[in-house]
Amino acid sequence: MREGGHILALVLKEAKDFSRPGMSTLDIDKYVGRLCLKYKVMPAFRGYQNYGYNVCASVNDEIVHGVPKKDKILKEGDMLSLDFGVLHKGFNTDAAITFGIGKIDPIKKKLIDAAEKSFFKGAKKIKDGAYLGDVSAEIQKYIESKDFSVIRSLAGHGIGREIHEEPSIANFGKKGTGVILKEGMTLAIEPMLAEKGFDLRLGDDGWTYSTIDGGMSSHFEHTIAVTKRGYDILTA
Ligand code: MF3
Ligand code: CO
Repeated sequence: MREGGHILALVLKEAKDFSRPGMSTLDIDKYVGRLCLKYKVMPAFRGYQNYGYNVCASVNDEIVHGVPKKDKILKEGDMLSLDFGVLHKGFNTDAAITFGIGKIDPIKKKLIDAAEKSFFKGAKKIKDGAYLGDVSAEIQKYIESKDFSVIRSLAGHGIGREIHEEPSIANFGKKGTGVILKEGMTLAIEPMLAEKGFDLRLGDDGWTYSTIDGGMSSHFEHTIAVTKRGYDILTA
């Protein structure tokens, strides 16, 4: 997973550097396809429940699972989340980043920053013997301290031979509750947040989730391994 996760991180970075105004999200998906050939890894999402693409590309008020489209053209000032998975030697890794296309306004910057920081706040609670609820509660506390809302109906997850395994990892919750973490567990932790309300709707494409009120949304994800004293990022 560490091997695959490292390649995943390289692909996400190269895809970010490639993204420019005027490009479609399908152009980015095709570029990621070429990177998969270059690095000789399988895109884990392609074929998952008949998903037909390499990445999920979610723009502005789209939360996650944005389907790449020829007519979804990026403009200066947009924010883009790229979510990507790698299947390597029988094991999956999953990670996501959100970033600006050119210059973005301060609220988008704040959302991007809050997604990333909330991940690290939550991750700080991870270690052998810790409650999963401690991680969830910490993510929620940070996001709400920035006056953003936590998406409720989507969650992180265990990951390994399958992309989605037990346990489900909510981005909100109560300290001292839930699963007890054990050294060697591999988890995809992925805070998803919104500028205004957390209610979402599913698009006509059957995949893309957007906020109902049109508020902007950001997402950040790493696959990690639980260790005796903390955690290791496998998608670094
Ligand atoms: N990273 C996504 C998640 O954990 C995986 C999406 S699978 C896809 O939900 F098929 F939607 F791409
Ligand atoms: Co995930």
